[in-house]
Amino acid sequence: MEKNSKSVQNGKNSPEVVVENSDASQGLRDLFVDALRDIYWAEKALTKALPKMIKNATSEELISALEEHLEVTQQQVTKVEQVFEMLGEKAQAKKCEAMEGLIKEAGEIMEATEKGVVRDAGIILAGQKVEHYEIATYGTLRSFAKILGEDKAASLLKEILNEEKDADVKLSAISDSINVAAVHEHA
Ligand SMILES: [Fe+2]
Ligand SMILES: [Fe+2]
Repeated sequence: MEKNSKSVQNGKNSPEVVVENSDASQGLRDLFVDALRDIYWAEKALTKALPKMIKNATSEELISALEEHLEVTQQQVTKVEQVFEMLGEKAQAKKCEAMEGLIKEAGEIMEATEKGVVRDAGIILAGQKVEHYEIATYGTLRSFAKILGEDKAASLLKEILNEEKDADVKLSAISDSINVAAVHEHA
């Protein structure tokens, strides 16, 4: 296969870095694709976990935020598939142990709490852990895409990153009133 040179503008004032699509960048590219498979599994798992969290939530505000993020998450599954396509890779999921753990933890929190404000506070706790995991992942994936010269993939990953950040900010805002209510609730 012919070697493919790509130019990457690495920051405003830094010199141009040329990334060769050769053995030198193959390691990072493999890591990138592997991490993409991991988050693809995670997003799919979340489309199944979010409806359970919605069913367990009481606050209307929380329910509608979770419903909205479920829709966004379903679209993200498609967006991640598009990223695979941009890389010329087959969309393939690889079990994400971390997300499996976070989803399991969400289930445990819901089981250990009574339905109401305290469980809502727990759902937000679990939800924000998920968002932060996603923010960390997409932030890194976007950097990988940029340095590998995959600009279209980088901008789509940035779009997903912003959606996860928005979800996190929204959950923080909702938690303000829910935590106040929860502190007055009996265990
Ligand atoms: Fe997501
Ligand atoms: Fe998310």
